[in-house]
Amino acid sequence: MNRIIICAGFAALAAWSQASVAAPPHPGRLLASNCFQCHGTDGRKGFEELAGKSSSSIYEEMKEMQAKPADKNIMNAHARGFSDNEIWLIADYFSKVPR
Ligand code: HEC
Repeated sequence: MNRIIICAGFAALAAWSQASVAAPPHPGRLLASNCFQCHGTDGRKGFEELAGKSSSSIYEEMKEMQAKPADKNIMNAHARGFSDNEIWLIADYFSKVPR
């Protein structure tokens, strides 16, 4: 099931990356805007900058935080609000923002 959801995410990314001149915004940007308050707009100038980090490291950190007790850390609680597919889209978005 997760694999199907992740594949759907990649299909959305593939469709987005083939878009022509008037490219729509990255499909993860709206989801990623949930992170801007603490991590800075587009993941820049926050206390933990996400811009330009590898998508796999953001994905893995989010999965680790999802698995930790939600009442111990704001990120553990926050990470739980997103599906695997949404986390991939968010991670891919931040990885493509120039530092
Ligand atoms: C309410 C503030 C807040 C919001 C909103 C928030 N974060 Fe965080 N984030 C934190 C804090 C605080 C830490 C540091 C946690 C720690 O080190 O224990 C953190 C840490 C992280 C880390 C680990 C960074 C590192 O280098 O260790 C990642 C990845 C991350 N956040 C991703 C996200 C993503 C993706 C979103 C949006 C879906 C998000 N955060 C939204 C406060 C926030």
